[in-house]
Amino acid sequence: MVRLRLALMATILGAFACGGDKSTTPTGPTSPNSPTTPTGLTVPPLRDAAQSAGKLVGAAVQSGLLGDGRYSGVLGRHFNYLTAEYEMKWDAIEPTRGGNNFAAADAIVAYGQANGMKIKGHALIWHGSVPSWVGSLSASELRAAFEDHIRSVAEHFRGRVVAWDVVNEAIADDNSGLRDTIFRQKLGDQYIADAFRIAHQADLQALLFYNDYGGEGLNQKSNRIYDLVQGLRAQGVPIDGVGLQMHITAGNPPSEGNVAANMSRLASLGLMVNISEMDVRIRDLPAATRLETQRTVYKTLVSVCVAEPRCDAVTFWGFTDAHSWIDAQFGADDPLLFDDNYGAKPAYSGVFDALSRR
Ligand code: XIL
Repeated sequence: MVRLRLALMATILGAFACGGDKSTTPTGPTSPNSPTTPTGLTVPPLRDAAQSAGKLVGAAVQSGLLGDGRYSGVLGRHFNYLTAEYEMKWDAIEPTRGGNNFAAADAIVAYGQANGMKIKGHALIWHGSVPSWVGSLSASELRAAFEDHIRSVAEHFRGRVVAWDVVNEAIADDNSGLRDTIFRQKLGDQYIADAFRIAHQADLQALLFYNDYGGEGLNQKSNRIYDLVQGLRAQGVPIDGVGLQMHITAGNPPSEGNVAANMSRLASLGLMVNISEMDVRIRDLPAATRLETQRTVYKTLVSVCVAEPRCDAVTFWGFTDAHSWIDAQFGADDPLLFDDNYGAKPAYSGVFDALSRR
């Protein structure tokens, strides 16, 4: 009965939305022009489950999409932690030398505050977002610009962000040690410690994280990350924790046991940990098993954070497959929790179950 009435309503609304055109476009939560309320707006909020577990559940967002009602509606319903996908990076804030533009980043913060969310700043020092003008600076000029950038940005958001990714992706992929960035070349290896010290002076309250990818489980990269942060701790550098990005594929995820062991050894240093940029690619799997495998991977790895007392947060790098950096970076995929039309995917259920300790 109910089904029949819903189907009838959908047909009427569909006809209305299409101006009477009886097109054969399928309706429902996954159709491109669906008139129905997406299930992302009706399924139980992830943030409630996260709160019960004592965790933050976050998403990276793009300021330009906050005006889209479905985007901001699903975001506000499910997440209690927010990260700017690009707007707080150096070349977004200071594309030309001499003056920060915080408008887009401030819009994200305002949205988060209006929706009872905490905010994580991302990322003060990253080789991937260095403004072009920085490339021509001498070592001493770079030193001044580096300090000024970290200080002015951290001061601007002081009191509004609870944490910063201070240094992002500083370890090389080839196990050679530190990545050969402009910062390392011109400021020396101690640029990492310096960045944390400057950020701490500018914002005494914010938790300060080192953030990287590929070192989620136990491997050479995570050993390097461990050595780096252990050294920083030993020198008394004000670092509070490590973010594990977790950009992974469903066919080859890090093992649950290795991620748990890695988190645990970082926690033993007195550090917090978090999953900072999770997405799970599925394009290489057979179509029939993709969504279920993805659900299992999300559930398994989010559960590791839920079980680790020093893991405070899980942040996803976006939340809808309609807007993910993965498509441009790795090819068309569906790596997130909600589909192109904001329908809740099995991945959503996996995360909900993990946060609910099921
Ligand atoms: C990415 C954004 O998602 C893209 O939109 C942008 O073009 C490049 O940066 N690791 C990080 C993030 O720490 O800042 C990156 O974000 C993705 C990889």
